Amino acid sequence: MSSVAQAVCAVLETAEPRAKVMLARRVARDWRLGRLAHAFDVAMPDRPARPVEPRLLAPRDMPKRGKGSAHGRIALIHALAHIEFSAIDLAFDMAGRFGARFPRDFVDDWLGVGADEAMHFALLDRRLRQLGSHYGAMPAHDGLWDAAAQTAHDPMARLAVVPMVLEARGLDVTPATVERFLAAGDSATAAILSRIFNDEIRHVRAGTKWFESACQAANLAPEAAWRDLVTRHFRGLIKPPFNDSARDSAGLSRDYYQPLARD
Ligand SMILES: [Fe+2]
Ligand SMILES: [Fe+2]
Repeated sequence: MSSVAQAVCAVLETAEPRAKVMLARRVARDWRLGRLAHAFDVAMPDRPARPVEPRLLAPRDMPKRGKGSAHGRIALIHALAHIEFSAIDLAFDMAGRFGARFPRDFVDDWLGVGADEAMHFALLDRRLRQLGSHYGAMPAHDGLWDAAAQTAHDPMARLAVVPMVLEARGLDVTPATVERFLAAGDSATAAILSRIFNDEIRHVRAGTKWFESACQAANLAPEAAWRDLVTRHFRGLIKPPFNDSARDSAGLSRDYYQPLARD
């Protein structure tokens, strides 16, 4: 039986988007069915493999998206597809890199998240194709792996920054994005984003749950420990407006983030 770490590594090392999606879903299923050993016998790569397209650009070099136009909406879907594509690797890396330090259901949670991210990406890529484009047709933001690289040494820092800052940020911005697609008459994209939104609440909740369990083991107050780790390992801003109700249903109360909020 191969190990879950080997299977996760294979996902990270698969570059081609559709192949990555298929393998991600297969590995999550194999794990659920007990076909992979709970063993961590290989190291995760420093960076996951990336397809030839999209071309990755520094954030400052990204072309501006025309906000109201159809092209602007396709560019926005492309940007969201890229985030979901990166999220596949972030979830699998979480399981493969840190799984040995947690109970078995840590792997259950993060491979489940990884399978969700693969589905999110597949839905958005299919939508791009319906609109005459595809993932890879436009340049994409380089730097989504930075948060992972910054926190590769420390599971608490990774949990604090990736699910509890970055994915929580998705909860803040997605409702307005759904409205924007509805206003443009694109209910198909709006429906995909609403589904993603509901799944992302679960992802943030998994992050908060495992962060709090690690804090309990280390005898730390979670809110203060989170603020300390975010201050040290996250370069961006924790900025309002917050979707307090969605964050709260993910277990992320204002006590965590309000003291760090900067306009
Ligand atoms: Fe997602
Ligand atoms: Fe997610």
